[in-house]
Amino acid sequence: MARCLVTRDLPGPALDRLRSEHVVEVRGETAPPGREELMAGLVEVDGLLSLLTDEIDAEMIAAAPRLRAISNYAVGSDNVDLDAATERGIPVGNTPDVLTEATADLAFALILAGARRIVEGDAAVRAGAWTTWEPDWLLGREVHGATIGIVGAGRIGSAVARRAGGFGMEVLRWSPSRGGSLTELLERSDFVTLHCPLNEQTRGLIDDRAFRFMRTTALLVNTARGPIVDTEALRRALREGSIGGAALDVTDPEPLPAEHPLLSAPNLTVVPHLGSATHAARGAMADRAVDNLLAALAGERMPHCVNPEVYERV
Ligand code: DGY
Repeated sequence: MARCLVTRDLPGPALDRLRSEHVVEVRGETAPPGREELMAGLVEVDGLLSLLTDEIDAEMIAAAPRLRAISNYAVGSDNVDLDAATERGIPVGNTPDVLTEATADLAFALILAGARRIVEGDAAVRAGAWTTWEPDWLLGREVHGATIGIVGAGRIGSAVARRAGGFGMEVLRWSPSRGGSLTELLERSDFVTLHCPLNEQTRGLIDDRAFRFMRTTALLVNTARGPIVDTEALRRALREGSIGGAALDVTDPEPLPAEHPLLSAPNLTVVPHLGSATHAARGAMADRAVDNLLAALAGERMPHCVNPEVYERV
């Protein structure tokens, strides 16, 4: 039996499968563990099931002598130092596919909410500001037939593209790996939606310069990772009207404190990292994360591994 640390209880029965084979400690708190707590917790464990809010850096990995598997409960793995894990021969697992459609749905919900001013409308009704139907009140933008620029060549971007087809939209795509012109996508898009992983190529990708290329009516949607957008540049772009609005599922920092200056910018919708937040997706993610951990602890290949090169080393 191996010892496993799970940094947060997960929805569904998946953790029972882990418990039936190994000694499992599941942290009870809602808040992510602090660095010291996580480091101390890792000293004696063979397997870690982490959340995207747990920063697993090289020092932590070095201080975990028994650690032989990290299973991240997310498709993204930017919270784990992959080089350090690979160097130690530790496979890192993720949970692709099962959240693709849920995240694409949320991206579209944000596109529609931003374009059609749904959140403003709801707030106006609750505030008693809706006194009569008015011809020119809360006018938004047409989504049908508009041009959508999808940044990212992966599964979620493709799922968004399929939805865009249903709305009769023209779809432009760009990713760092595919090449082409990001500038052209920014210039031509009514909606720019981000679906790329966070890494050194994409950190700060949407910065002051990028906002200068975007249309003054364009809506920026981010359901990927907060730091892909330069928060201060976004605040300026919204305040100065160099873009039409933004609808964010992810932010930098995350969570965004209620007093953060970005929240006073106009035409901004923010939701709390809900991309994969459906019962089905979160349960299936738990299954994937447990499958990864069980496989690695049994000395088998993780079904979903983000550093497969660990298996190439003998
Ligand atoms: C992921 O899995 O990386 C998502 O951000 C979770 O919603």
